Amino acid sequence: MTAIVYSLNNVVKERIVGNVGFRLVIPSIQIHAEENIALVGHSGCGKSTLLDLLALILRPDRTARFELNPVDGKPSDIDHLWQRRKQDQLAQIRKQHIGYVLQSGGLLPYLTVRENIELPRRLLNLAKDDSIDAISRVLGINRQLDKLPGLLSAGERQRVSFARALSHRPSILLADEPTAALDPITARKIMAVVMELIRGLKITLITASHDWAHVYKMDLRTLRQEGGAVDNGRIYQSTFHD
Ligand SMILES: Nc1ncnc2c1ncn2[C@@H]1O[C@H](COP(=O)(O)OP(=O)(O)OP(=O)(O)O)[C@@H](O)[C@H]1O
Ligand SMILES: [Mg+2]
Repeated sequence: MTAIVYSLNNVVKERIVGNVGFRLVIPSIQIHAEENIALVGHSGCGKSTLLDLLALILRPDRTARFELNPVDGKPSDIDHLWQRRKQDQLAQIRKQHIGYVLQSGGLLPYLTVRENIELPRRLLNLAKDDSIDAISRVLGINRQLDKLPGLLSAGERQRVSFARALSHRPSILLADEPTAALDPITARKIMAVVMELIRGLKITLITASHDWAHVYKMDLRTLRQEGGAVDNGRIYQSTFHD
């Protein structure tokens, strides 16, 4: 078995306004290097919340253990870094080891496709090389590099989002419903290209999806989601299990 990249125990994030709201509970999740994981569950069950926790963007409210050990880096006690408010260190880990395809795509509209894809590399001061052209060719967007994102089709934009998330060669790729806005055939084609691209790159993929059939076809390991009302029905509590 490959090394453990994410190790979480009793991680809790609450979204409570007044005394009603939502609670995400992770009793225990361990994700190994090169695993392909799917977070599957209904709208509002906490998939994006969990991805934001894994992306080190969102601070958990309570944690027994939250460790990250990227294959190309050193182990970090994420709980400890949040407790000590080490935002800079968290940002550095995120920048270096994680690529994140947002639910909305998240491309900057005033930068060209090439500039969007280059952005994570520029933030890390990585030298220019031919990697942008290479990844764009694989994803079939090499003829779009000089355009603004607004001139692309939805499928092309999602492929640019993947290229941007991968351009700095992270070992962890998080993707939030990356193909939800596309027709099923285009969605499968894009995911097949992405899966092919990350195979052999030692990348851990964690993707959120509401489409079970899609996930089973791609042979992803699914984290089980369960949920229900607690605290006299005021809180919807959602749990993701290994
Ligand atoms: N910033 C926020 N403040 C308060 N509550 C929030 C916030 N973001 C999300 N929530 C609530 O947290 C719960 C989980 O939301 P989340 O976005 O993680 O769900 P999801 O599974 O990604 O849903 P979808 O499939 O619709 O994207 C929802 O009940 C939502 O209303
Ligand atoms: Mg979501």
